[in-house]
Amino acid sequence: MIGIFDSGIGGLTVVKAVFQQLPDYEIVYFGDTARTPYGTKSPATIIDYAIQDTEFLLSKGVKIVVVACNTASSVATEALRDRFTGIPIFEVVTPAVVKVTQVTKNYNVGIIGTRATINSNIYNKKIKDLYADIKVFSNACPLLVPLVEEGWLKRRETKMILKKYLYPLKRKQIDTLVLGCTHYPLLKDIIQAKMGKRVKIVDSSAETAVYIKNYLTEHPEIDVILKRGNNNQFYVSDFTPTFAEIAKKILGRPIHLLLA
Ligand code: DGL
Repeated sequence: MIGIFDSGIGGLTVVKAVFQQLPDYEIVYFGDTARTPYGTKSPATIIDYAIQDTEFLLSKGVKIVVVACNTASSVATEALRDRFTGIPIFEVVTPAVVKVTQVTKNYNVGIIGTRATINSNIYNKKIKDLYADIKVFSNACPLLVPLVEEGWLKRRETKMILKKYLYPLKRKQIDTLVLGCTHYPLLKDIIQAKMGKRVKIVDSSAETAVYIKNYLTEHPEIDVILKRGNNNQFYVSDFTPTFAEIAKKILGRPIHLLLA
């Protein structure tokens, strides 16, 4: 099984993308709804939580782990790989970085994410490792996660806040923008409209799913141990009807959330 974890429900955007790329594969999802959000927490706490999330997924028998959360990917990947050496661990930053280097033409790139993601500077470092000439402009957008969770996807207030967050990046004439947070794909249309058609939007969820698919093609020995079937399991560390509603909004259908 493919294990996928997030700080909450937003990571279902990655699940949706994985279902699109790998429809036959069985997944176990864990959303740490009791302790969400991670994006406002310190690196030490995020690492601690990410280790526990991974242990939970491993206890369910998963053979690979996908860190769907951009915040945990940015801050905790190294710690997870150091600790869980026997299993492939995927994160959502690298696939987006690779895509950025393929699509930017003017070498001015923007990143939006939670405070912890932007403060980690990981996108900047990884992009510069591949192409030192690319200029990276980032902006933390802490208000977007609560707006998405409230379902304020098309509200005037959300558009105004987005305008404020995106304006500094627009001024830098970026031609590529990374949605560096699980929740932002739900705002993709408004973000695209605000940035203009010229700007290419890179969705880390979609890129990660393609990345995993390619990896499995190149690693048949891992592919063969992943279970196929429909018995997907969705665990949360706390349950409220709101989580169920957000899940339905993201996946386009209701799912049964199990309490971990
Ligand atoms: N999952 C987080 C991320 O992708 C957003 C929500 C949170 O702050 O925990 O960065």
